[in-house]
Parts: sequence; structure tokens; C-alpha cells
Amino acid sequence: MSKISRRSMVGMITTSFVAFLFAPSAAGAVSEPVIRAGEACKKVGRRKTSGGKTFECVKTANGNIWRRAKASTPSQPTTSEVKVLDSASLSAGASQTAIVTSGGKNYAVVLTRTSGGVVAFSRSCTHAGALVTPGPAGQLTCPAHGSVFSASTGAVIEGPANISLTKYQVSERSGAIYITI
Ligand code: FES
Repeated sequence: MSKISRRSMVGMITTSFVAFLFAPSAAGAVSEPVIRAGEACKKVGRRKTSGGKTFECVKTANGNIWRRAKASTPSQPTTSEVKVLDSASLSAGASQTAIVTSGGKNYAVVLTRTSGGVVAFSRSCTHAGALVTPGPAGQLTCPAHGSVFSASTGAVIEGPANISLTKYQVSERSGAIYITI
């Protein structure tokens, strides 16, 4: 090996060694800076995860700082009882439609007074969502494609629908009928 090539070889090894010592590791190059609660942050409302903990940038009298974010709890589905009809307006064996409002939404429902009490179903046909209507007696029919449902159980009597109507819990007290939506 010549003198020059030996010298350049030593130079290359030295350069590589120094570069190895001071170069950031691949993992370090992409890792996020560590956040500690109380440290300054810029944008209020920004959330970041550091060390497995979630921090949120909040505004304080001393400026914007990172604070441990509270664990968000999944929202619980809510149901509410809504008055639909006066009891006197639903005679034995009869069905009646109504629109009830709950949580800012309107629901089209149909109620029937059976020998076992009042039952309530969504009027939305399970085939393609058209509104079923009472009749003939004891049945609910869909004008869109002809499905027929039982007014007392919501079960399919005739297709093309093949799923029962959605049933609501009913409560009748003090002369009024309520459903839970
Ligand atoms: S939407 Fe009711 S039968 Fe098709």
C-alpha cells in the first residue's frame, strides 16, 4: 500500500469515527422533544403526547404552558322519555302516527293499543326507509315497495323488508303515553 493511500485511509477512519461519535442516532433524529408540565408552549388548545402522557397547551396568567390533559371519557348514549299522545286518543286496537322530538331530532313513530298494552315502533321501513302507515287492521304497510309489518309486534309479514321495525319502550301513566328514545 502506498504512503498516500495509507495516510488517506487513516484520515477516512478518523473522520468516520468522529462523525459516528457526534452524529445523532436515527431514532434521536426523529424523536419529539420531551414535554414537561409547566413548560412554555405556543398555541393554546394544542395537544401533544410525550413519554406516553398527553399534554395540552393552556393559557395562564403567566403565559401559555403545557398541562397534563384530562383523559377524555367517551360520551354516553343518552335516552329520554317523551310524551307522544294522550291515552284517550288511542282506542283499543287502533294505531296512530306521531312525530316526537328528542335531542333536537324528530322521530316518526306509530303506536298501537294492543290487548297487552300500547306498543310503539319507528315508522322508518327497514327496507329502504320510507314511512310505514297503519292499515289494514293490525298491520303497517309501506307504500314504497309493499312491505307489510305487524302493528303489534313490528315483525315482517310480507317483504321485501326482512327486518322488524325498530321498537320503542312505552310507558302509560296519568292519562298519557310516553316512549323512550
Ligand atoms: S322502503 Fe318499504 S318496502 Fe321498500
